Amino acid sequence: MKVAVTAASGRLGRATLKVLNSKLGPEHVVGIARSPKKIGVPQIETRRGDYNSIDEMTEASVGIDSMVMISAPVVIGTDRVPLHRNVIEAAKRVGVGKVVYTSVIGNGAEKDTWFWATQQVNRQAEQDLHDSGLNWIVARNGLYLELDMNHIIAANESGTYTNNGGTGRCGYITIDELAAATAALATNNRLNGQIYNLTGETRTQEELVALANDVFDLNVTYQIMSDEDNVARFMEDPRISARGEDVARMLTGCFQAMRAGALDVTSDFKVAAGRPCKSTKEMMKDIRQKLET
Ligand SMILES: NC(=O)c1ccc[n+]([C@@H]2O[C@H](COP(=O)([O-])OP(=O)(O)OC[C@H]3O[C@@H](n4cnc5c(N)ncnc54)[C@H](OP(=O)(O)O)[C@@H]3O)[C@@H](O)[C@H]2O)c1
Repeated sequence: MKVAVTAASGRLGRATLKVLNSKLGPEHVVGIARSPKKIGVPQIETRRGDYNSIDEMTEASVGIDSMVMISAPVVIGTDRVPLHRNVIEAAKRVGVGKVVYTSVIGNGAEKDTWFWATQQVNRQAEQDLHDSGLNWIVARNGLYLELDMNHIIAANESGTYTNNGGTGRCGYITIDELAAATAALATNNRLNGQIYNLTGETRTQEELVALANDVFDLNVTYQIMSDEDNVARFMEDPRISARGEDVARMLTGCFQAMRAGALDVTSDFKVAAGRPCKSTKEMMKDIRQKLET
């Protein structure tokens, strides 16, 4: 059996490869990336594959029984719909056994938010995969806990964590927990043909901050801010401002979606992974341990 992960030089791709490697052994695992040298998982086979090229993705997909297709990152000015279609078409051409697409949670209430355009790309890829004739699974990922933890830890300096999420509940999860569930979905054909929400417990911003205070010994309070102020807050982060204001708006849209209740979904993690998801507190402890080593 050969299981491949595309966009494998990224955080989720690499983490999923590591789980597959320890589960199946390196002879059964293939990492596909634009720059295979960047994958960095020892012993496994690596192949070159850029979503822009059907031919390259076709060559990279030969002999693959199960493929995890990681969603293409948001790059302003890039239409991601054809990129995902290229990966699906390549998988069809060489008869890949099944494709697991990593999407994003959302119950539809995000329709009137700045996140909707991005979400539509995910939903289109889900539809294209469903219509492809391939065996498929859609894994709708919760929001990365690591990203918001970075912001909450940084807020300890001022003592106030602000965003526009309000009292909306959101399913958060770490990349390692996502990787565990994604690897399980890729290797279990009994779960084919379904959509799975991969999240931990849902949390409000206030709850998240309270847990972070406990786990990271912080003294932060949460405060809601307006959508426009949140865009300005994101633009002060050089990692976000480097990608442009449209990205800051899209990310602000995630918190609008949270406020609207769109990310308050029921988790299918246990069905997908075969075990319950770690609690938010356990996942925060994992993050703390990683930051300290
Ligand atoms: N659930 C969440 O909270 C959350 C948060 C952030 C992102 N996401 C979504 O989840 C996806 C995976 O997240 P991640 O954390 O692994 O992202 P990441 O660390 O930013 O990695 C993105 C990956 O996409 C690859 N890539 C970019 N353009 C490509 C192309 N044309 N063809 C093939 N590969 C390409 C990059 O390759 P290079 O190394 O060559 O650049 C990299 O491996 C993201 O792309 C995004 O859609 C979800």
